[in-house]
Amino acid sequence: MIAPLPLGVLISGSGSNLQAIIDAIERRELAARIQVVISNRADAYGLTRAQQHSVPTVMINHKEFSSREDFELALIQSLQTHQVELVVLAGFMRVLTPFFVRAFPQRIINIHPALLPAFPGTHAQRQALQYGVRVAGATVHFVDAETDHGPIIAQAAVPVYPDDTEETLGARILAQEHRLYPHAIRLFAEGRLEVRGRSVVVHQEPRVALATLRVPESNSSKKD
Ligand code: GRF
Repeated sequence: MIAPLPLGVLISGSGSNLQAIIDAIERRELAARIQVVISNRADAYGLTRAQQHSVPTVMINHKEFSSREDFELALIQSLQTHQVELVVLAGFMRVLTPFFVRAFPQRIINIHPALLPAFPGTHAQRQALQYGVRVAGATVHFVDAETDHGPIIAQAAVPVYPDDTEETLGARILAQEHRLYPHAIRLFAEGRLEVRGRSVVVHQEPRVALATLRVPESNSSKKD
């Protein structure tokens, strides 16, 4: 039994993916602990969701910083203070620069409401409808220096129906996101992901390196 993976979740809005992660942890389907939820918006409903589950929250308003780098430095410092090992972007609506990405190499993941590499960026559901695709979906991927671009961990597909609107398609995709994100975090927590170039290999067994690095919870307070 390895120690729960310490997560930092970054949000800007509703936080329904955050809720799915909280629920998976509480149901003991995911060996993780949310150390902190950080929002760049004070009115993000996800902050309320976190507080309802006694998860620490921090508000870092990007508008209060003179540069993107200063804002990201504040994010990094907060995540490090909370001893976060995996940064989980869950509807965080700020583009992160290579400066931030370098602070957590292969330790930042994102969920995007499209089957990447199709429809990166904002309004992915609208882009899918306008393009006329028959299948849409969601992607969880490692974050690299380019937006919605890093190696893909998991994807889920949904049908697109002729009478779909952005809202109906969005809701169908979101239902899959709520299943997919906890699943992908679990793979990471179990040390089963290995990035090889653009590909992510999902191992059947935990990789020794990650599993042994994390101290079992029962031993974590022991002193030598
Ligand atoms: C989701 O559609 C996610 O894919 C995208 O932002 C949305 C966040 O929704 N990155 P929520 O805040 O988790 O409800």
